[in-house]
Amino acid sequence: MDELIGRYLDGLAPEHDDVQAEMAAHADREGFPHVGPAAGGTLRVLARLTDAERVFEFGSGFGYSATWWARGMNAGEVVLTEHDREELDMAYDWLSEADYAPAFDYQVGDALELVGEYEGPFDCVLVDHEKERYVDGFHEVADKVAVGGVVVADNVVQGPADFETLVEYAEGEGVPDDASAATRGIAAYLDAVRAAPDFETTVLPVGSGLTVSVRTGE
Ligand SMILES: C[S@@+](CC[C@H](N)C(=O)[O-])C[C@H]1O[C@@H](n2cnc3c(N)ncnc32)[C@H](O)[C@@H]1O
Repeated sequence: MDELIGRYLDGLAPEHDDVQAEMAAHADREGFPHVGPAAGGTLRVLARLTDAERVFEFGSGFGYSATWWARGMNAGEVVLTEHDREELDMAYDWLSEADYAPAFDYQVGDALELVGEYEGPFDCVLVDHEKERYVDGFHEVADKVAVGGVVVADNVVQGPADFETLVEYAEGEGVPDDASAATRGIAAYLDAVRAAPDFETTVLPVGSGLTVSVRTGE
């Protein structure tokens, strides 16, 4: 992304609350890839716009993205999934420190298996696990998204995927066979959400780049 636009959007991102500030400092120290405040602020707005009561995350880390959903909710529940127990333990400690309105449901394991244990509807979903499995996450959860609800995926601009290859993909060239698994994964995800008949998708260049796919029908 253009560096100047990135600085502009980051500069206009909402302020962290106290717990988020601690989490962000931890992420910076550890080099942990979290959504950051510009994308986080977008999650909060989406929670407000959908009047979210139920949120599901594929890949929650230590709970940073969950705080942004929570700050846009008046009640309800956020389901966190994470296959690294230590990360989820940190999420529990931090989220218990804050006074967020929704409850948090902490699930250790493979998000793609865990999602099968939940009935819909979800108002908001975050796809932020292994890039090569994003498309599987979308297919698992699509029917569980409320009409009017949203599926958000992170890292469609920056992250492990190669952005120049994604630009060529967006301009109509195929993705080369020797592209990385992450690059092919993001392109496959974009193919899937853009082709899904009951979703409308847009790309927002906030943070590491989000897709927002709103469910428009059954
Ligand atoms: C990029 S981090 C994002 C964390 C969080 N969404 C945030 O922005 O604060 C992705 C996390 O997903 C976890 N993860 C990756 N694949 C997963 C899977 N299949 N099931 C559960 N967790 C997964 C990783 O361990 C990592 O902590």
